[in-house]
Amino acid sequence: MKEGSFWNGKRVLVTGHTGFKGSWLCRILIGAGAEVTGYSLEPPTQPNLYSMAGLEGRMESVTGDVRDMAHLAEVFRKARPEAVFHLAAQPIVRESYRDPRYTYETNVMGTVHVMECIRQTPGVITAVNVTTDKVYLNNEDGRDFREEDPLDGFDPYSNSKSCSELVTHSYIRCFFQKADTPAVSTARAGNVIGGGDFARDRLIPDCVRAVAAGERITVRNPGSVRPFQHVLEPLAVYMTVAERQAKDRKYAGFYNVGPEKDDCLTAGELTELFCRKWGSGAVWTSRPEENAPHEAGCLRLDTGKIREVFGWKPRWRIGRAVEETVNWTRVWLNGGDIPAEMDREIKAFLEA
Ligand SMILES: NC(=O)c1ccc[n+]([C@@H]2O[C@H](COP(=O)([O-])OP(=O)(O)OC[C@H]3O[C@@H](n4cnc5c(N)ncnc54)[C@H](O)[C@@H]3O)[C@@H](O)[C@H]2O)c1
Repeated sequence: MKEGSFWNGKRVLVTGHTGFKGSWLCRILIGAGAEVTGYSLEPPTQPNLYSMAGLEGRMESVTGDVRDMAHLAEVFRKARPEAVFHLAAQPIVRESYRDPRYTYETNVMGTVHVMECIRQTPGVITAVNVTTDKVYLNNEDGRDFREEDPLDGFDPYSNSKSCSELVTHSYIRCFFQKADTPAVSTARAGNVIGGGDFARDRLIPDCVRAVAAGERITVRNPGSVRPFQHVLEPLAVYMTVAERQAKDRKYAGFYNVGPEKDDCLTAGELTELFCRKWGSGAVWTSRPEENAPHEAGCLRLDTGKIREVFGWKPRWRIGRAVEETVNWTRVWLNGGDIPAEMDREIKAFLEA
């Protein structure tokens, strides 16, 4: 995989490398020969994918807060990245209701700090800011969001990511236009699933916790529609965007990343699929909460732009994505070899 790879020997800085997506991304980048530096808080959950993914010792891992500009700048100076992926965030909607200020500080000022470091560090050629499908103003009219739609997420998490987009847009307009400046994009991915997500208040982790404990799965909002996809899908897009814009800055832009249209499922349908693939008595029930904070009922993305620009299409349909998540979870519960399982999935995905 290394030979001939754009990433072979590239210095790459990943914020949020101790998280679910960040751990998978680092495993892929290292496999492709990149020299990776990560900058994040400690892993957000216990257990966590970072400590299982065989990354320690294979990358430079710095524990730091994106709100700490001086520390982040020092790490940029030392790592001298050519490519930057910004994933560090407070990413949970419900947590953003509990602590909106922390969510804004991390997701908005954190982005300002990352953009500022990219601006001030000579040698950065390409960067991707990872936002979310929730950045759009959502009138719940069931339409697929397009990249030019207004940005105004409802809750503090979604809204802070809209702000992160706007911050990035301004930096691009004001500082990253000339040929000798970095090419910078944002990517707005839908909900991802996959092995190693242990976050609170997310559907598949809730399913995994329930089946591991031999309990019934409870689903808060079984009717909510989301563009679910396997975690490797958006990671492949982030890497494609970073590589293509490094070679030709005309590819820098704002990209939705989501599944095939009919893979946008309700939370209930996804749980049902999980139970079928899990087998051995997995069952679920709906338990709507009284006075639950508002979360979008329907979220669908138009992914025409990445299809047209990069000739991209999802590699794994939702059935396969759930199957791989179940496989990973079984390996974990049986005390199996997680790095080997991740590499098997990455290889199968790249060959799909
Ligand atoms: N998981 C999804 O379904 C999904 C969907 C769309 C977008 N995203 C985005 O992808 C990115 C990664 O999400 P994830 O699912 O891996 O989340 P995660 O919670 O597993 O990881 C978040 C990472 O950010 C780090 N972090 C949090 N606050 C920080 C701070 N103040 N300073 C430094 N590091 C900090 C954590 O330590 C961790 O490494 C986020 O930006 C998220 O908004 C996720």
